[in-house]
Amino acid sequence: MAIRKIRTMGDSVLTKKCKEVKEITGRTLQLIDDMFDTMYESGGVGLAAPQVGILKRIVVIDTTGDDPHLLINPRIVETAGEQCGQEGCLSLPGKMGQVTRPDYVKCEAFNENMEPIVLEGEELLARAICHECEHLDGIMFVEHVEGELMDVPAPDEDEE
Ligand code: NI
Repeated sequence: MAIRKIRTMGDSVLTKKCKEVKEITGRTLQLIDDMFDTMYESGGVGLAAPQVGILKRIVVIDTTGDDPHLLINPRIVETAGEQCGQEGCLSLPGKMGQVTRPDYVKCEAFNENMEPIVLEGEELLARAICHECEHLDGIMFVEHVEGELMDVPAPDEDEE
């Protein structure tokens, strides 16, 4: 298990467009493992490779803690509906803001064997897919925030 350092807003790596993954190497698999470890350790529901400083089109998502998804070279091919809710990002710790997203998303991507996969999501999963895919194009959620960014309330101490 290896936890990688999460880059925070202001780091130029978060504004760059990531490159397509052409082949899966041992290093790619290590990166994917580390991304899952880093996401779980940080309590996030998604993480994109540029957030750990790697400009590759790789995303990991788990909105329930028991539903891991890996998306390589993801492409959103269909959206429907609308949801409006609070959103945050591991690259902007302690802040959140209101963002409108589609309520349904269909995403085509590849798995760790470079086999094509399809991931459909609603509600939080749809939001996470949109948020993480945008990281691959150097876009942070703050660009969509309606109104002011707010401070995340202090976590309940019982949860520790
Ligand atoms: Ni993010």
